[in-house]
Amino acid sequence: MPSIGIMGAGSVGLYLGGCLQVAGAPVTYVGRPSLISVLQQHGLRLTDYLGRDQFLPAQALNLSSEVSALAACDVILVTVKSAATREVAHALASCIKPQAVVVSFQNGVRNTDCLQAALPNHTVLAGMVPFNILQCGDGRFHQGSFGQLEVAEHADLTPVLPHFAAAGLPLMCCPDMPAVLWGKLLLNLNNAINALSNIPLKAELSQRAYRRCLSLAQREALALYQAAGIQPKQLTPLPPAWLARLLTVPDVLFRLLAQRMLAMDPLARSSMWEDLEAGRRTEVDWIQGEVIALANRLGKAAPINACLVQLIRDAEAAGPQRIRWSGPDLLATLQSASA
Ligand SMILES: NC(=O)c1ccc[n+]([C@@H]2O[C@H](COP(=O)([O-])OP(=O)(O)OC[C@H]3O[C@@H](n4cnc5c(N)ncnc54)[C@H](OP(=O)(O)O)[C@@H]3O)[C@@H](O)[C@H]2O)c1
Repeated sequence: MPSIGIMGAGSVGLYLGGCLQVAGAPVTYVGRPSLISVLQQHGLRLTDYLGRDQFLPAQALNLSSEVSALAACDVILVTVKSAATREVAHALASCIKPQAVVVSFQNGVRNTDCLQAALPNHTVLAGMVPFNILQCGDGRFHQGSFGQLEVAEHADLTPVLPHFAAAGLPLMCCPDMPAVLWGKLLLNLNNAINALSNIPLKAELSQRAYRRCLSLAQREALALYQAAGIQPKQLTPLPPAWLARLLTVPDVLFRLLAQRMLAMDPLARSSMWEDLEAGRRTEVDWIQGEVIALANRLGKAAPINACLVQLIRDAEAAGPQRIRWSGPDLLATLQSASA
């Protein structure tokens, strides 16, 4: 049975690792001492919006704050935020075994390249987590929305596929992960809007003004994708360009037409909101920043996404005193940025 390593025991890492362990896989978790002590006190509880409720007691958890704990692992899931990828990649290079397969379950489009650069002789694969996971405190991690994990198609992953399936998290093996990651990036453009709104995702997406902000950011990105020849994978029932238009319809119509998009736990929030709350650096440079980088490469501008980056920077700097943006105020600010 392949042993699994979690590099970055946080929302995604503990949820995926915990589900795999409950299903019988041996899992080693590497995380920060502060979270390890919470898990040592409370154990790990995994819940989801469909009624999953599983518990791993503290003594069942193989926890470490040292990357070297992953030396014997066969498959390592990298689940740190993008800002930590480079450091983690070098730490892994110093200790993991040559046959170990590394899978990035991170947002953004360049984490796999960053890992591969430090691990040139390892199999490094891109993965994608479509659903939201909330840290609820006391060692509880909650999946608040739907979706199937995707991962790059590769023979080295064959031994681990049954374990993900047994964990209730089947992996969809995909031949074109860049298309998946660019498609996910479009959806992740909402992370900054959700963080600025300071309200749960469901409440935010139920308000037309916030949805119009997301639509502006997505349309700007889509125009750049088209100019660059990037074809994002459709990850929602509607193609990306249609979704960007659907977002702008009145609330009553949106509730009728986009039930699946709103089918999420009322408490779910973006992990960027969690970062602002915790005073951590956000991933905005790996999300909106990619749209701006694409615009720069094409000699174009991305004023909507640049404005969102600036507002997140301001929020990072303001800490607990940050502005809680109403939908209409945020929309007016973005519209004037693009005027
Ligand atoms: N949460 C979600 O709902 C969700 C859903 C889909 C995709 N994603 C993506 O998945 C990735 C992970 O997100 P997340 O929300 O799971 O992040 P997270 O909760 O912040 O978890 C990452 C953990 O790894 C720790 N870490 C970083 N460097 C480390 C090191 N060298 N040694 C030990 N621990 C280290 C971090 O500690 P510090 O904070 O102290 O650095 C943090 O506790 C991101 O790319 C995110 O965008 C998240």
